[in-house]
Amino acid sequence: MTAYQWLGERAPTLLRPAILLLLSAYHFIMTILEVVFVERRPFALFNLTQLRYKSFARVWNNNGEMMSAEMPGPLFQLLSTCKGVVLDIGPGSGEILPRFNPNLISAMYGAEPAVDLHSGLRRRAQETGFGAKYHALLCGAEPESLIPALHKSGILDVSGKGGLASEGIFDEICCVRVLCGVPHPQQTITGLYNLLKPGGRMVVCEHVANPWRTEGRVVARFMQLVYTLLGWPFFMGGCELQRHTWDYLRDAGKWDKFDLKYYGPQDCIPFVVGELIKKSVSLDKSYAEAVQK
Ligand SMILES: C[S@@+](CC[C@H](N)C(=O)[O-])C[C@H]1O[C@@H](n2cnc3c(N)ncnc32)[C@H](O)[C@@H]1O
Repeated sequence: MTAYQWLGERAPTLLRPAILLLLSAYHFIMTILEVVFVERRPFALFNLTQLRYKSFARVWNNNGEMMSAEMPGPLFQLLSTCKGVVLDIGPGSGEILPRFNPNLISAMYGAEPAVDLHSGLRRRAQETGFGAKYHALLCGAEPESLIPALHKSGILDVSGKGGLASEGIFDEICCVRVLCGVPHPQQTITGLYNLLKPGGRMVVCEHVANPWRTEGRVVARFMQLVYTLLGWPFFMGGCELQRHTWDYLRDAGKWDKFDLKYYGPQDCIPFVVGELIKKSVSLDKSYAEAVQK
């Protein structure tokens, strides 16, 4: 490939994150100005976590819809078949809600820690026909935040269990563009695995570290490092470009099906998309016969 061809073909995908980074830095500054001069809450600047959620909510409220019109791989098809009791991790303001079929879903829980996205989320849940079946939870995916919120909502009883959830309660868990930003990812993803019923499905669409050793590109992997050093996680609400989410998912527990594929593996923001089925409980033959009698 000539340098000219490279500039025309590969450079745009490598430089696209720079636009998003600049946009996020702009919204971060606007959030600070809003908190100080409009809301008149200068002390809120000391709560950096909330400030970053607020700033990311600005980015998402302004651009989320446009950034959700097209998604990699079979994601929309996978979402359209979700059924039963579903947990959607980090639904934002519900940009991908129209991709689900509410007739197949008996209850849906959205774990969204950014309070500024909740009004949009509730509005979209109504517009898309979920009505009272939708439960917006103000919490993150990390067990210390999610488990108490599920307990409070009445779907999970952890009283007397030291706040731990060991049983599976969800038929499906959807992780779309969110695991890149959850704290202590291995523990958080294992916590989600535990909340899946045996035989339950996890639908995944996540951007990950560029797989430069196999089908990726070293220059794209290098650019991920550059954007990280320029402040990507800070301005993007904790999102990490260099996460090995594939490995965290594989190591979360036993799966009957682990079907993930790379989309855009040579890009600076490559995705893994697919479905994972949690191992079913295989009944001992004599026990199964006794149950049948
Ligand atoms: C890039 S947006 C994706 C929104 C939605 N899943 C979609 O794809 O349209 C990431 C979302 O994850 C949320 N988020 C950030 N940290 C989180 C955490 N620890 N647990 C759950 N969600 C989180 C953000 O507030 C934001 O709404």
